[in-house]
Amino acid sequence: MTAASSENNVSGLSADIALSMKNVAVERGGRTIWSGADFDVPTGSFTAIIGPNGAGKSTTAGLVLGQIPPSNGTITVLGAPPARGNERIGLVPQNHTLDQAGSIVCRDVVGLGLIGTKWGASIRTRSIAADVDKVLAEVDATRFAYKRFGEVSGGQQQRVTIAQALIINPDMLVLDEPLAGLDLQGQVEIVELVHRINRERGVTVLFVTHDLNPLLAHIDSLIYILDGRPFFGKPDDVVNAGLLTRLYSTPVQVLRTDEGCIFTRTE
Ligand SMILES: Nc1ncnc2c1ncn2[C@@H]1O[C@H](COP(=O)(O)OP(=O)(O)O)[C@@H](O)[C@H]1O
Ligand SMILES: [Mg+2]
Repeated sequence: MTAASSENNVSGLSADIALSMKNVAVERGGRTIWSGADFDVPTGSFTAIIGPNGAGKSTTAGLVLGQIPPSNGTITVLGAPPARGNERIGLVPQNHTLDQAGSIVCRDVVGLGLIGTKWGASIRTRSIAADVDKVLAEVDATRFAYKRFGEVSGGQQQRVTIAQALIINPDMLVLDEPLAGLDLQGQVEIVELVHRINRERGVTVLFVTHDLNPLLAHIDSLIYILDGRPFFGKPDDVVNAGLLTRLYSTPVQVLRTDEGCIFTRTE
């Protein structure tokens, strides 16, 4: 890292680190959800956030987005404390399809990503329209851009919502359970799309999921919430039967095929 990149960083943290947690804990409704988070997530990584339902994955996303304050410790996101409405972070929220007005055409759903941002006032201008078309093409949604959001498939809705998150050109993309409700093929396509965006844009990806399998061939790191504490690790260290069995409180096997593919199976 150069001296310049370190100076550009408000906190003095390395620009190589997208998210830093120092002894962080979080409470909701007066109850500690998890504590003892102490790790750095590298800039440009594709990181899964895994754990069983209720472990605190969405809560972790809420902390990064500045929606939930930590009850202890220090969080640094893209070199600064978390802040609501951070325009350097694109969000694909959990269960978003329920919130979006189904009668709006997909193309306009993407434009909604600019509302409330500094570009919001110019949504109708030519340059914004060109940006929307570009990001629709990037997620392979041009074909159904003028269909109503409520009438396209779950996988297509997810592409549009990813485009909506990308329209602000974020440095970090946070996706909360973006595979929920998709069939296996749809899940694979969304993970491959997010991986391509991660590689091509260099954007740091935090991908919340309760099912690790569709992500195994793509992620370079994981945050896993084990017994009320988040840990950071590499797939080689985390993806083993013992750890995953503890994580999900159910026997998990890790299988490797002759081709080097790896997947997990509950018994
Ligand atoms: N608004 C809230 N107030 C109080 N407790 C909450 C709230 N939202 C979630 N929780 C609790 O926090 C815990 C973690 O929730 P969440 O982060 O949504 O888990 P996950 O996304 O891993 O399924 C759960 O026990 C949940 O019941
Ligand atoms: Mg959740």
